[in-house]
Amino acid sequence: MFIINAPVEKTIELDNKIFLLKIRCAEIASIIRPGQFLNIRVSKTIYPLLRRPFSVCDVEGEFFYLMFNILGEGTKILAEKHFGDTIDVLGPLGNGFNINGSYDTAVIVGGGLGAAPFPYLIREIGNNKKVYSFIGGKTHNDVITYGMKNISIATDDGSLGYKGTIVDLLQESIELLKSSKIKIFACGPNAMLRSLKDFCIKNNFDCEVSTECAMACGFGICQGCPIESTKQSDKYLLVCKDGPVFNVKDVII
Ligand SMILES: Cc1cc2nc3c(=O)[nH]c(=O)nc-3n(C[C@H](O)[C@H](O)[C@H](O)COP(=O)(O)OP(=O)(O)OC[C@H]3O[C@@H](n4cnc5c(N)ncnc54)[C@H](O)[C@@H]3O)c2cc1C
Ligand code: FES
Repeated sequence: MFIINAPVEKTIELDNKIFLLKIRCAEIASIIRPGQFLNIRVSKTIYPLLRRPFSVCDVEGEFFYLMFNILGEGTKILAEKHFGDTIDVLGPLGNGFNINGSYDTAVIVGGGLGAAPFPYLIREIGNNKKVYSFIGGKTHNDVITYGMKNISIATDDGSLGYKGTIVDLLQESIELLKSSKIKIFACGPNAMLRSLKDFCIKNNFDCEVSTECAMACGFGICQGCPIESTKQSDKYLLVCKDGPVFNVKDVII
C-alpha cells in the first residue's frame, strides 16, 4: 500500500457530466487490480477532512483513471484538477474482482456510476472470455457505457434502451445467459444489487458484487464500514478490507 502525491495528467469530461481523471503513478498502476480502490485526499487543506474512496476505472501503462460525477465538495474539487496539480492517493485498497476461473462469458452489470470499475476489468479479461455489458440507469442521463463491450441498456423511464430495471433486462435475456457458463460482475445501487442477488440465487449464477458505503480509513482500522455477512463465522465484514467485492451469497445488502 502506497501513499503518493501523484501528478494529474488531465481531466476529461465525458457526456452527462461524468469526469475521468488521468493520474500518473507507476507504483499503483503497475499493481492495482480491477475492483480495488484508492482513498483520495482531494485537497491540501484540512477541508474536506476525510479521504474519498474511488474505484480504479482503468489503467494504461504508468497511468490510472478515476471516474466520478460531482456529488459533494470532494468530487467538486476533483473535477477542477488539471495538469500540474497533484493528488494524495492511498492504495491500492480492498480485494478486487476475481476474473480468473472456468467461466466462458463475463456478464458486466453496472448501474449508474457503478460502471466505474468495469473498463479496467474488461481490459484485463481481454480476449480470453466473451463479455456482455448490461448497463442501467434511472434515465438516459445516468447510463455510462464508457469502456464497455456488447452493450445492452435499460432505463427505468424507457428514455434509452429497454424500459425497466437492469435485472428485468437480464431476465428477458435469460436464454442468452444460460447458453454459456457465465460469471456476473456487478456494481451499482444497493436496490439493484439486492434484486440481482435474488436473480442469481434463483438461476444459480456465480456473481461478485462491488459494494459501497461511507468510509473513513479505507484499510480496516476505524471499523466504520461494516456489512452484514451470511456466514456463520463472521456476523459482520468490513467493506474496505474484506471487500469491496463479495460473492453475492456471502453478504446481506
Ligand atoms: C469502494 C468505493 C468505491 C467507490 N468508487 C467510486 C467511483 O469510482 N466513482 C464515484 O463517483 N464514486 C465512487 N464511490 C463513492 C464516492 O466515494 C463518493 O461519491 C464520494 O466520497 C463523494 O464525495 P463528495 O465529497 O463529492 O461528496 P460528499 O460530500 O462526501 O457526499 C455527498 C452526498 O453523497 C453521499 N455519499 C457519499 N459517499 C457515498 C457512497 N459511497 N454511497 C452513497 N452515498 C454516498 C453523502 O452521504 C452525501 O449525501 C466509491 C465508494 C466506495 C466505498
Ligand atoms: S473504512 Fe475504516 S475500517 Fe473500513
